[in-house]
Amino acid sequence: MSSFDFAPLLAPGLPPPAVKWNGFAKYNFVGGHNDADHVPVDALVKAANDVLAREGRTLATYGLNSGPLGYRRLREFLGQKLKRTTGMNCTADEILITSGSLQALDLVNGILLTRGDTVIIEQASYQGALTRLTRLGVNAVGIPLDSGGMRMDALAAALEDLKHQNIRPKYIYTIPTVQNPTGTILSEARRHELLQLGEKYGVPIFEDDCYADLIWSGERPPALHAMSQDGGVIHIGSFSKSIAPALRVGYIVADWALLARMLAIKTDAGSGAVEQMVLGEFCPKHFEEHVPKLTRGLRAKLETLMDALNEQFGTAAEFEDPKGGIFLWVKLPDQVDTLKLYQPALAAGVAINPGPEWATDKSYGRSRIRLCFANPSHEAIREGVASLAEVCRREFGVPARIANVARERA
Ligand SMILES: Cc1ncc(COP(=O)(O)O)c(C=O)c1O
Repeated sequence: MSSFDFAPLLAPGLPPPAVKWNGFAKYNFVGGHNDADHVPVDALVKAANDVLAREGRTLATYGLNSGPLGYRRLREFLGQKLKRTTGMNCTADEILITSGSLQALDLVNGILLTRGDTVIIEQASYQGALTRLTRLGVNAVGIPLDSGGMRMDALAAALEDLKHQNIRPKYIYTIPTVQNPTGTILSEARRHELLQLGEKYGVPIFEDDCYADLIWSGERPPALHAMSQDGGVIHIGSFSKSIAPALRVGYIVADWALLARMLAIKTDAGSGAVEQMVLGEFCPKHFEEHVPKLTRGLRAKLETLMDALNEQFGTAAEFEDPKGGIFLWVKLPDQVDTLKLYQPALAAGVAINPGPEWATDKSYGRSRIRLCFANPSHEAIREGVASLAEVCRREFGVPARIANVARERA
């Protein structure tokens, strides 16, 4: 342990220090982890061998032989895949590969936002997006969701209200295709409305399609980017959920004029090359057959989770069956403060995400939790939910045992 005191030298305004990692909780329902059984390890090993044997010498240069936008074969795969699955028409030169889509969030924010700005966001949204906005000093206006995703009546009202205050939001951030945390999919009709509202008020749309590959039915509406008439949509995506999050590979699709501004602030001299090369080799051959296998496995885990919640919580846990993805957004009875449930649950080995961290309106999030079901085994899901119910009963008096009995008989 060094005796030099850095504390007085630290730059002002830093976020609180990170907490030391002590391993995962026994029952790990937090974060956006994936299913270990569905990482396509053998095919990734072969892809790594093949691409490095063939092109390993290109590692001698920053950006391989592909330039700052990222490994060209991966961008070409993405161009074709996005055309096929989302209807988007983009060339490899309109795609920027990033270090996870978190870097994509940083780059888009970096070129558009300044302290005091306003953005529009779904009332329940990705914590990583919310904390970034807070840290940037940006005002996030939350729009309520229903089972069809962001409510367009509420969005229209918010835009009108902001206009009256002479505020032009910098963007409307949305996760329209398997929303985090609610798991909803915005219909094509609502997508049209959203685009029209964006056009009417001169506000671009920031479309985050992180989970769009993980849909139970395999069917999805076209991307907002594909439907846009005026080009006012920035689209981002990721391989974290379709392949593996530790790879740290995401992407941005936007006009070159915008990518050129983002490249100017992407000062990392390129995102990790080997993972891009491996994906560029793996994806054209295996992506299409891999994803349905993964989604089937995820759906089975979701069913285990919903069964376990019904069994252990009875009517005290309310949720809608999500359309895809890796999360279940659960409403517990009003007396449960999930920020206060977090610690005792963790002490019992159960890690949960308290709702307020996933919401613009903390009171809306207060009795909600987000459970990621992708990583724990079926057995761990069942055991973890039983432990969580026990802790919740001890701390908040719900679920009452009697409620479960009544439900089982009903
Ligand atoms: C909506 C959304 N966007 C972006 C990300 C960032 O993911 P990554 O950086 O792994 O691509 C996540 C991660 O969970 C997410 O849920």
